[in-house]
Amino acid sequence: MIDKDLLAAPGTPERSILDGLDLARLPRHVAVIMDGNGRWAQQRRLPRVEGHRSGIHSVRATVETAARLELEALTLYAFSTENWKRPRLEVATLMALLKEWLARELQTLLANDIRLRVVGRLDGLEPSVVRELQKGLDATARCRGMVFNIALNYSGRAELTDAMRALAEDVASGKLSPAAIDEAAVARKLYTAGLPDPDLLIRTSGEMRISNFLLWQIAYSEIHVTPVLWPDFRARHFFEAIADFQKRERRYGGVLEPEPAEAPALAPPAAASR
Ligand code: FPP
Repeated sequence: MIDKDLLAAPGTPERSILDGLDLARLPRHVAVIMDGNGRWAQQRRLPRVEGHRSGIHSVRATVETAARLELEALTLYAFSTENWKRPRLEVATLMALLKEWLARELQTLLANDIRLRVVGRLDGLEPSVVRELQKGLDATARCRGMVFNIALNYSGRAELTDAMRALAEDVASGKLSPAAIDEAAVARKLYTAGLPDPDLLIRTSGEMRISNFLLWQIAYSEIHVTPVLWPDFRARHFFEAIADFQKRERRYGGVLEPEPAEAPALAPPAAASR
């Protein structure tokens, strides 16, 4: 049962946005491209890493809000395979922040029945990071509430490549026939196997890009881009994104009104159009 008072105090501006939401029509899975940490720091004449440090508060607020809204899944894009190109100090700070966050927040995850999951190529991460992650994965494995997915050393193309390789291996070993490869078979090989696709994708800092994120899974996601920089992102902005999502008509390539029964459809229902 969603407790609105825990999400926003009565009489506050965020509460009025929350009151305008239809709690029966929330997205099941929200994915977020956290962007703008560097610009946030630059605006304050601080080193870029201070933007990431401050961004951790937004991670906490977002996980807490998503869990209190009883969403099924939240995926945050924390580190892409392309982010290795950043200065060494910045990469080291991001990894250290992640480890600190894991050590500090594990009890909160457990207390809220949140299951941690990681998407990305874990084998490319430092052993000490993998150890901390593994601790979090093991400790929360039995949690049955929201899944909190962290995308780390993640790239949508790498994910699809890994899925294609896994399918090819199954075909080569005779476990799978090529004719049995359908969309569900591909989805089962993705890092997100078993999770619903994101209904809503949020990107902060105003950039209109997908940045190689969940390329397969966002096929029909509604996209909300906010100018707010990630370190400033709070529950209010999350509610605004959901309000925007609830204004959209989701048609999945179809039409809202069904055709009259006597007019036959031109294409089979499985062949979705844009
Ligand atoms: C993008 O801002 C942000 C990142 C590349 C990293 C985000 C990661 C965190 C906030 C820490 C994650 C930790 C956990 C626990 C999930 P940018 O540096 O690209 O900003 P800019 O575009 O303004 O330069």
